[in-house]
Amino acid sequence: MEKLLIRGGRSLRGRIAISGAKNAVLALAPATLLAPGSHRLLNVPHLTDVLTMMELLESLGCSCRLTGKELLIDTSTIHSFHAPDELVGRMRASFYVLGPLLARYGHAEVSLPGGCAFGPRPVDLHLEGLQQLGAQLTVRNRRVYARAERLRGTTIDLRFPSVGATGNLLMAAVLAEGETLIRNAAREPEIVQLGEYLCAMGASIEGLGSPVLRIRGVSHLHPATVEVIPDRIEAATFLIAAAATQGEVTLTQARSDHLHAILTKLQEVGCSIVTTHDTLTLRMETLPAPSTVTTAPYPGFPTDVQAQWTALMLRAPGVSRITDTIYLDRFKHIPELQRLGARIELHGNTAIVFGGHPLTGTTVVSSDLRASAALLIAGLIAEGETEVLGLHHIDRGYEAIEQKLQQLGADVQRVRVDD
Ligand code: UD1
Repeated sequence: MEKLLIRGGRSLRGRIAISGAKNAVLALAPATLLAPGSHRLLNVPHLTDVLTMMELLESLGCSCRLTGKELLIDTSTIHSFHAPDELVGRMRASFYVLGPLLARYGHAEVSLPGGCAFGPRPVDLHLEGLQQLGAQLTVRNRRVYARAERLRGTTIDLRFPSVGATGNLLMAAVLAEGETLIRNAAREPEIVQLGEYLCAMGASIEGLGSPVLRIRGVSHLHPATVEVIPDRIEAATFLIAAAATQGEVTLTQARSDHLHAILTKLQEVGCSIVTTHDTLTLRMETLPAPSTVTTAPYPGFPTDVQAQWTALMLRAPGVSRITDTIYLDRFKHIPELQRLGARIELHGNTAIVFGGHPLTGTTVVSSDLRASAALLIAGLIAEGETEVLGLHHIDRGYEAIEQKLQQLGADVQRVRVDD
């Protein structure tokens, strides 16, 4: 077991490179199942979620090798169509293998992912869409058994622009017979990249980045190479940490066009931001102003940045309101922030933050990935020493987090708990 020790009070200053997007890799890697052969993913971050996805693909018979930032996946030797329950339980994105396995091999078995730290997370949209594409699905003992001779193109109206359902259905539809329309599709950059990768493999998809995707099914795909886009949530986290500490940071290998909602809010609360085609510089000289934020599907304010924004608003003298419309129960960071002295009230899915009061370091425990990022930011602004436990969450989604923070001048160390 490890923990992070943070001595707060230093402004973040300097330059760091943003890693490849975790959520893009978690969609791109399963897409390789659609074509036999050797696929190359570049700019892949070293994260435990990426390792879990590699383990999952290997359990199906693929061979995976991560060297530096290059992930080679050879899908010529697939022999299993059953995703092990333990891996799906560990990581919800494992459910992404269902669509491609079904489309290419005609059958798949994947257990239901179940809930997570921030409430129930159903997969009904994935399953209904696959059924509309002609799949026969049976759910027994919390496991989905899916079969289809060949999927058939159709029109799917998603009730909600689910990222996972859009990705799964897109991967299923590219090998279906005929044309599929996915309406109310997710527009997240990671889904756009998935679609572009599928096109590089020989698929025909129109409308990427819009709410309507038109997919003309093809009979086979071929391996391809893709460079993973920068992680917009990692970028947002560092920008917020810099703003919270009245710092000045430059992020390289970052995409400001993927961060529009965040940059707008950061400017609204007082940050100055300068962008070039692949760098982003944030400078903050004052305390932030209070704000009202409501999460929404892309291009709205991401739920994955809600907890970090809450930590930033602890610095803003006055009252801020942060509402999560995507996960109504994603507030496990709040009791931990309160242990540091934060004044926050939770009303349904809205956190009301009474900011501008000092925080005092203590021991806090992270419950999920983005909650841990919020605790880190709070530790950077708290007086004294904060210990963050539960680091396995942060290691799922932030590559070399303490090295990057140290590079920006933070006093952060990873230590073994039994030291
Ligand atoms: C993805 C991201 C996750 C992010 C989320 C929302 C990956 C690997 N993960 O997760 O980091 O927080 O998008 O931006 O990319 N829903 C249903 N039925 C379904 C599917 C979803 O009701 O079949 C609901 C969920 O419970 C949730 C909302 O839709 O309330 C958003 O879920 P979804 O967009 O599917 O998120 P994920 O793909 O799981």
